Amino acid sequence: MHSGRRVEIFPGAGPVLAAAAWFAMMQARPQPAYATMRPSIESFFDPVTGTASHLVYDAAGGHAAAIDTVLDYDPKAGRSATRSADLILDFLRAHSLQLDWILETHAHADHLSAADYLRRRTGARIAIGARICQVQGVFKQLFNLEAQFAVDGSQFDVLLDDGQQFDIGHLTMTVLFVPGHTPADIAYRIDDAVFIGDTLFMPDVGTARCDFPGGNAQALYRSIQKLLALPSATRLFLCHDYPPPGRAACLQTTVAEQRAANIHVHDGVSEADFIAMRQNRDAGLAMPVLLLPAVQVNIRAGAWPPAESNGIRYLKIPLNSL
Ligand SMILES: [Fe+2]
Repeated sequence: MHSGRRVEIFPGAGPVLAAAAWFAMMQARPQPAYATMRPSIESFFDPVTGTASHLVYDAAGGHAAAIDTVLDYDPKAGRSATRSADLILDFLRAHSLQLDWILETHAHADHLSAADYLRRRTGARIAIGARICQVQGVFKQLFNLEAQFAVDGSQFDVLLDDGQQFDIGHLTMTVLFVPGHTPADIAYRIDDAVFIGDTLFMPDVGTARCDFPGGNAQALYRSIQKLLALPSATRLFLCHDYPPPGRAACLQTTVAEQRAANIHVHDGVSEADFIAMRQNRDAGLAMPVLLLPAVQVNIRAGAWPPAESNGIRYLKIPLNSL
């Protein structure tokens, strides 16, 4: 882990040149007038997968980051679409925003990421937690991927560690390592807002499952405690909502609401009780519908596998292996 280390923002330039360029830019940019700028946040909800995507930006005409985007995918036809991602592009265009970052909280198992599509459309860089390499290793083996598939995270542009910071225009984002749902999950904190990925859900839904490869209920409990130790008014932006009948989808909550009412980890729930509840609950959960296609695409930063000799791309289904 590296605390307070800034992300390499000139990839490919080499460390010496990149550092020089970075310091030159830092000296040149105006600082004090923007030191207290608060982020603007626009959230998008995909009802098909229950996924929330968030767009964070400094000001209209400024710079933006998109968090946990969705590539629409019909598993019955094996066909993808870009309706959800195009809503983000429309918003960027309408507010004259430059997309600098495409941020993933983890390799999702319930939806395909639009990261690669958005990168190709905008030139933005894709970032994810550095431990994605571990996840890539597990799934390269399960899917028996091509030998050329690298398990070094190089499909992404930037790999992030706990405490790292990077800029979105005049805003500064800080990375929080929050493993448990997967071994590589990170959250993103900016001002009083935290994008928490698959850790907590709405209080009446609870917490994320921990039974995927490398998942760990004890780690999730400790990650959640880190989030719940933040100031009580901190806004927590979710990656998913699965609203019960009669409640509309809700994409943000607060530390105070979670501590008071989260059905799995409200104040007073011990680590041992949480682990027992989580493991018991996970044992009865079905696999997500999009698990197999999603993981294969998301460990490639949202890109498809290479085309085969007939020009068609394929996803694999490992039989009797999960
Ligand atoms: Fe997830």
